[in-house]
Formats: sequence, structure tokens, C-alpha cells
Amino acid sequence: MTSKWIRVLGFFLAIIYFAAPAFATEEACITCHRKISPGQVADWESSKHSGQEITCSFCHGDSHNGAENARLAKLPDEQVCADCHEDQFKQFTKGKHSFGWTSLNAMPITHVEPDELMEGGRGCGGCHNMGIKSAAQKKEQLEKGYHYQNNSCDECHTRHSFSKKEALDPKACQQCHMGYDHPQWEMWESSKHGTRYAVKEKGKMHEKAQAPTCQFCHLPNGTHTNKTAWGFLGVRLPLPEDKEWAADRTTILKALGVLNPDTGKPTARLDVVKAIDMVRLTEKDWLDERNKMISICSNCHSEQYAREQLAMGDSIMKKADHLLAEAIDIVAALYKDHIIKKPDNYSFAYPDLLYFMQTGGGDTDKLSHIDQILFQMYMKHRMRTYQGFFHVNPDYAYWYGWAMMTEDLGAIKEMDTTMRAIHKPGK
Ligand code: HEC
Ligand code: HEC
Ligand code: HEC
Ligand code: HEC
Ligand code: HEC
Ligand code: HEC
Ligand code: HEC
Ligand code: HEC
Repeated sequence: MTSKWIRVLGFFLAIIYFAAPAFATEEACITCHRKISPGQVADWESSKHSGQEITCSFCHGDSHNGAENARLAKLPDEQVCADCHEDQFKQFTKGKHSFGWTSLNAMPITHVEPDELMEGGRGCGGCHNMGIKSAAQKKEQLEKGYHYQNNSCDECHTRHSFSKKEALDPKACQQCHMGYDHPQWEMWESSKHGTRYAVKEKGKMHEKAQAPTCQFCHLPNGTHTNKTAWGFLGVRLPLPEDKEWAADRTTILKALGVLNPDTGKPTARLDVVKAIDMVRLTEKDWLDERNKMISICSNCHSEQYAREQLAMGDSIMKKADHLLAEAIDIVAALYKDHIIKKPDNYSFAYPDLLYFMQTGGGDTDKLSHIDQILFQMYMKHRMRTYQGFFHVNPDYAYWYGWAMMTEDLGAIKEMDTTMRAIHKPGK
């Protein structure tokens, strides 16, 4: 044999030597799971991982090997993906998505609602599973008896296909960015941007025709870091220079429980909000995100056009804040005059918007219904007003947003009159 062939033979022997033990266990996982969960194996086979021999045990370990010890299979967290995809993991940790679980748990409401809807993952916890859990959070979850939902990386490119194409489709965002308080999917889909995307997808427009997706604007150039200027709460520090807007904002911050309604001083909740990057804390942080967005619009629009569109979004937010602050003041006065009683779990005799639908703290006092209208005005209709504007959707901005805010304010005024008439002092 020539030395060349000896080398070739040696090469093949080496492959068999190194690969055989791995294949032996992997075959077992795959052969058995092909019978008990064939769809899962088919999905894995469709992934790039299968082509690279990244088999079941890479992610799940090899302690489990049959029905009797299924609980020994490791359920991989983000760190397992990070072993091979460090860049994406690091980008992810710098973005807002990495805080999803912590921000959920920072809400007082989370701890009075059923666990099935939190740790169980069908409710708040289904969407807020997007987020890295701390060791303490994982422990708490296990102690409550929930052991799935350990990974955020399978939310956009779902297991076990882990497909980049799937993650690049705006549909990948729909499951969470929809519905009551953040209908970005509905707004985008029926906007000019989304319509064009749909027509183009059907092959009816030239492939060069442009149509921005969620990913194009929010995860540009394949980054996994996501953040916007205003964020979800639509507030920021420092307060605006405009006096009326600053006053309205102060009222809103009190109702969010981050400013003490009596003294106007920051509360402990402000530190929580800061820790999870819920609001931009300086003008510069806000402007950085805004400028990034303008440069994205500038791919297809003039910069001037983009600036004007987003500035109008800010100014509609200011007008929406004025309506909301008026409503908060009315409800706050009912607390002050003891027409609504302070619920035990509230820190102040003042509306607390972060108790969500259990505003009034779930108190049996029927009068707290006015609180729920206030909550709806904030969480459903104020959100739609400005989110609709930013997502270029006329109907959401007006009919589902602004118009509904004015309706809520009307209802609150009328209820206030009735409540005050029924509950005259001394009655
Ligand atoms: C002889 C059959 C068999 C073999 C071999 C096998 N499994 Fe399983 N596996 C099962 C069964 C049965 C279950 C439980 C399925 C159920 O609950 O319906 C299971 C469950 C699992 C689960 C889910 C655990 C959970 O908590 O829900 C994972 C992950 C898993 N197997 C991965 C693997 C990996 C990785 C290997 C190889 C190292 C492997 N399996 C080998 C039969 C097998
Ligand atoms: C690249 C990593 C990776 C590979 C490879 C992988 N899995 Fe998984 N698997 C995951 C992740 C992530 C989860 C979700 C864990 C969680 O939610 O806690 C999961 C969950 C599961 C579950 C439980 C949840 C369910 O939907 O039933 C089973 C069973 C499972 N995998 C089987 C397999 C089998 C069989 C293979 C090989 C054919 C495999 N996995 C390969 C990452 C992987
Ligand atoms: C042992 C290393 C390893 C681990 C662990 C691993 N991957 Fe991968 N992953 C790869 C390799 C290799 C590729 C293929 C790269 C290529 O072909 O360009 C890949 C490709 C991908 C792709 C791109 C697929 C495509 O359609 O182009 C995604 C998404 C992905 N992995 C997600 C994950 C997630 C999520 C996890 C954790 C649940 C994970 N990976 C765990 C090695 C790994
Ligand atoms: C349908 C998926 C979904 C459900 C259900 C859901 N959320 Fe969210 N939540 C999101 C998304 C998406 C965002 C980001 C929205 C945005 O920025 O416009 C968000 C934002 C938040 C934020 C603000 C985070 C920040 O830093 O700005 C908090 C707090 C929050 N949700 C708490 C909750 C609570 C509490 C529940 C249950 C009562 C809940 N969510 C239910 C998807 C969901
Ligand atoms: C043409 C670009 C563009 C597209 C496409 C787009 N967005 Fe946005 N998005 C924006 C702008 C602009 C803002 C407001 C940024 C700011 O605060 O300055 C925003 C804000 C957001 C926010 C923060 C809360 C809010 O709504 O104001 C979330 C969450 C969001 N977008 C998700 C999505 C999702 C999901 C999709 C796809 C269904 C999507 N966006 C499509 C431009 C876009
Ligand atoms: C919010 C949705 C989303 C989440 C969550 C997400 N990804 Fe991705 N991922 C994407 C998108 C979109 C792409 C396609 C990027 C591109 O090429 O433009 C992608 C691509 C990838 C790729 C392929 C990169 C390449 O260029 O081949 C890998 C690897 C990957 N993601 C790993 C991860 C890991 C690890 C996590 C968890 C830390 C994660 N992803 C979480 C949306 C997501
Ligand atoms: C599994 C649910 C889920 C999916 C899927 C998802 N998101 Fe999110 N997204 C969230 C949650 C929850 C938050 C709020 C995180 C927090 O609490 O900080 C969020 C926040 C955001 C924000 C930040 C808004 C801010 O506060 O500045 C943007 C932008 C965003 N998502 C875009 C996307 C895009 C684009 C996709 C699809 C590629 C996507 N998301 C897919 C759940 C999801
Ligand atoms: C990838 C290209 C692309 C990007 C990026 C993009 N747009 Fe567009 N946009 C379009 C196209 C194409 C239209 C349809 C133009 C028409 O109506 O004739 C459009 C329409 C609009 C419209 C509606 C115009 C009308 O007359 O109804 C507004 C407003 C708008 N875009 C604002 C923005 C803003 C703000 C951004 C950045 C946050 C942005 N766009 C990013 C391509 C883009």
C-alpha cells in the first residue's frame, strides 16, 4: 500500500473511532423517538443541526434512555445554544427580549393570578417566557411544579427545525405581538408596509420591490438586540420640557406607581423599572434609538419624511397623555374623597394601573369598575393610539385608539357624576 492510501485508511479509521460512540447513543434516541414522537424527529431532520450531526443528546444530554427515566432528559436553556452561537446569545442579552420573564414577575398582578397562566405558559407567561431566567427564578418555577419553558431561543425559530427562514418571516412575531395591548401584528399587516409585503410574497411584485418587515425595522442586519425609543410604557426620563406635557406625565407616573402621589418623590417601583430597562432614562438613550430607526426608514424614504412621521407620533402621544391624565385625576379624586376605598394591597389611595384588570385590587367594592375603565383607557386605547401611529395604521390610531380614549373619558366623567350623587358625604 502506498503511503497515500495508508493515510486515507487512517483517516477513515479515525472517523469511525471518534464518531462511533456518539452514533451509537444518538441512533438510540432517534430510533426510539422516531416511533414515539416521529414529528419531532422529522423536524430535527429538517434542521441544519441534523446535517451537522448535532443530535438529540447535544442538547438533552444522554442520562435518559427509555420511558422509565424520561425525567432525566435535560431541557436546555439559552446557555446550551450559546455554547455554539455565542454572538446571537450576547446580542440577545443586550436587548429587551432578555428581560421578558423578569418584567413579568416585577408586576404585582403576576402574583395574584393563577400559576397556569404564568409558569404554565398559557397567558402572560406564554409570551413572557421570552427572557432569560435567573437561577432563583428557575428554582421557583421548579418548586411550583413547572419544568418546561426553559428556552427563549426557540420562540422565533421554533424547535426542532431551528430555521432562519422561519425567524425572518414576520409571522414569527405574531404569536406575542398581537391582541389587547400590543397589536403590532394587526397594525403592520393591514398597513401599507404589510400590504406590500403580502402582495410581494404572492409573487405579484418584482423581487426588488421593497416592503419592510418587523425584522427589517427591529432586528436589522440579523442582530438579536431589540429596543425602541419609547418602549411599551411610552414614558421616559427626564420629563418633557413642555409644561403641560410634563404635568400630564407626572400624573401618569403616579398612576404607574413609580412616583409617590402625595409627595411626587420616586418610589421603590422606579428602581424595578430601571433595572429592567423599561424606560429610557436619559435624553441621549432615547435619541440613540430614535436615530437608529430614522436611518432604517431612510433606506426607502427621505430622512426628512421619516423625521416628520415619527415626530407626529410623539405629538399624538402627548395629546393622548392629556386625555389620560384628566381621567386619572377624576378617579384619584374619588379615592381622595373616600368614595373609592383604598384596597389593602395598594400602596396609596390612588389608581394603580399595574394591577391590570384587578384594579381596585380585586376588592369586592363594586365601585372599582371605574378603575377598570381607566385601565382600559391606558392599556388598550392609549397603546393603540401611538403604536398605531408608529406602525402607519390609520384605523388603529384613530378608531381603535384615539376615538376610544375619548369614549372612555366620557364614561369616566359620567360615572363620576353618578357616584358622587349616590355617595353624598354622610350617606
Ligand atoms: C427506548 C426509547 C427511548 C430512548 C432510547 C430515548 N428516549 Fe427519550 N423518551 C422516551 C419516552 C417514552 C419519553 C416520554 C414520552 C412521553 O412522555 O410521551 C421520552 C422523553 C424524552 C424527552 C422529554 C422529556 C420531558 O421532560 O418531557 C426528551 C427531551 C428525550 N426523551 C430525549 C431523548 C434523548 C436525547 C435520548 C438519547 C440520549 C432519548 N430521548 C432516548 C423514549 C426514549
Ligand atoms: C439544538 C438543541 C436541540 C436538539 C438538537 C434537540 N432538541 Fe429537543 N428540545 C430543545 C429545546 C430548546 C426544547 C425546549 C425545552 C424547554 O422548553 O424547556 C426541547 C424540547 C424537547 C422535548 C420536550 C418538549 C416537547 O415538545 O415534547 C422533547 C421530547 C425533545 N426535545 C426531543 C428531542 C429529540 C428526540 C431530539 C433529537 C431528534 C431533540 N429533541 C433534539 C432543543 C433541542
Ligand atoms: C453543538 C453546537 C450547536 C448547538 C449546541 C446549537 N447549535 Fe444551532 N447550529 C449549529 C451549527 C453547526 C449550525 C449550522 C451552521 C450553518 O450551516 O451555517 C447551526 C445553525 C443554527 C441556526 C440557523 C439555521 C438556518 O436555517 O440557517 C439556528 C437558528 C440555530 N442553529 C439555533 C440554535 C438554537 C436555538 C440552539 C439551542 C436550542 C442551538 N442552535 C444549539 C451548532 C449548534
Ligand atoms: C400575547 C402575548 C402576551 C401576553 C399574554 C402578555 N404579554 Fe406582556 N408583553 C408582551 C409583549 C409583546 C410586550 C412588548 C410590547 C411592546 O413593547 O409594545 C409586553 C410588554 C409587557 C410589559 C412591559 C415590559 C417593558 O419592559 O416595557 C410588562 C410589564 C408586561 N408585558 C406584563 C404582562 C403581564 C403582567 C401579563 C399578564 C397579565 C402580560 N404581560 C401578558 C406580550 C404579552
Ligand atoms: C417600518 C418600520 C417598522 C415595521 C415594519 C415595524 N415596526 Fe415596530 N416600530 C416602528 C417604530 C418607528 C416604532 C416606534 C419607535 C419609537 O419609540 O421611536 C415601533 C415600535 C414598536 C414596538 C414598541 C411599542 C410600540 O408599538 O410603539 C414594538 C414592540 C414593535 N414596534 C414591534 C413590531 C412588530 C412585532 C412588527 C411586525 C408585526 C413591527 N413592529 C413592524 C417601526 C416599525
Ligand atoms: C425575536 C426573534 C428571535 C429570537 C428570540 C432568537 N432569534 Fe435567532 N434569529 C432570528 C432572526 C430574525 C434570524 C435571521 C437573521 C438574519 O440572518 O437576518 C435569526 C438567526 C439566527 C441564527 C443564524 C445566524 C446566521 O446568520 O446563520 C442563529 C444561530 C440564531 N438565530 C441563534 C439564536 C439564539 C442562540 C437565540 C437565543 C439566545 C436566538 N437566536 C433567539 C430571530 C430570533
Ligand atoms: C414569545 C413571545 C415573543 C415573540 C415570538 C416575539 N416577541 Fe418581541 N417582545 C416580547 C416581550 C414579552 C417583550 C417585552 C420584553 C420586556 O419585558 O422587556 C417584547 C419586546 C419587543 C420589542 C421591544 C419594545 C421596547 O420595549 O422597546 C421589540 C422591538 C420586539 N419585541 C420585536 C419583536 C420582533 C421583531 C419579533 C419577531 C421577529 C418578536 N419581537 C417576537 C415577546 C415576543
Ligand atoms: C424597505 C422600505 C421601507 C422602509 C424601511 C420604510 N418604508 Fe414606509 N413605505 C414604504 C413603501 C414602499 C410605502 C408605500 C408608498 C406609497 O404609499 O406609495 C411606504 C409607506 C409609508 C407610509 C404611508 C404613506 C401613505 O401615503 O400612506 C408612511 C407614513 C411610512 N411609509 C413611514 C415610514 C416610516 C416612519 C419608516 C421608518 C420607521 C418607514 N416608513 C420605513 C417603504 C418603506
